[in-house]
Amino acid sequence: MKKGEKLIFALIGLIAVVSVVYQGWQVANVTEEDPGIPYYSTASNELSDKAGKLIRKHSCRECHKIFFLNDLTQNVPSPSLDGIGSLRTEEWLYNYFSAENPQEIVPSRLKQRFQMPSLAHLPEEDRRVLAAYMASLKVEDWYLEETRKAAYEKRTGKEYQPE
Ligand code: HEC
Repeated sequence: MKKGEKLIFALIGLIAVVSVVYQGWQVANVTEEDPGIPYYSTASNELSDKAGKLIRKHSCRECHKIFFLNDLTQNVPSPSLDGIGSLRTEEWLYNYFSAENPQEIVPSRLKQRFQMPSLAHLPEEDRRVLAAYMASLKVEDWYLEETRKAAYEKRTGKEYQPE
């Protein structure tokens, strides 16, 4: 290797190190002042991978936001699934996904093509994976009430009245 090349590689290395340190420093600073993002998942990597495949296969993001992302070409007033695991239990989710008619459990105010489709035809294993993963999507306590309110208003189209 020529001397000039060594120097270039050394410079690239230096820039990479500095930018990583700088980003780390920024992240550390943000978490100090800002309460941060309230949504997190307790799922193992294995569960996230399996669920991720099913979420893509069944286009859940065509209608739902999951970790803020949805399919931008769609504009369906479906509830966001961020924090859903703090609002519903795994058992509830499994039963909901197994229902032939999910609207018997959660009534819909939407036209049929925008409603939650039945997942009852999926293999039991897939419904269990989806329920377990959805149950792992938690929200921090300080944002729980806000999440509950948003879910209620999306679902009913009415203003939320805390009990
Ligand atoms: C065609 C749009 C659409 C698709 C695709 C879709 N959903 Fe839904 N989903 C909805 C709507 C709308 C609701 C609210 C109930 C209703 O109106 O039927 C809902 C409700 C839910 C709820 C219950 C929320 C609550 O607590 O009330 C969960 C959980 C859920 N969906 C998960 C999923 C998962 C997982 C997938 C992918 C396998 C998926 N959805 C695919 C539209 C959709």
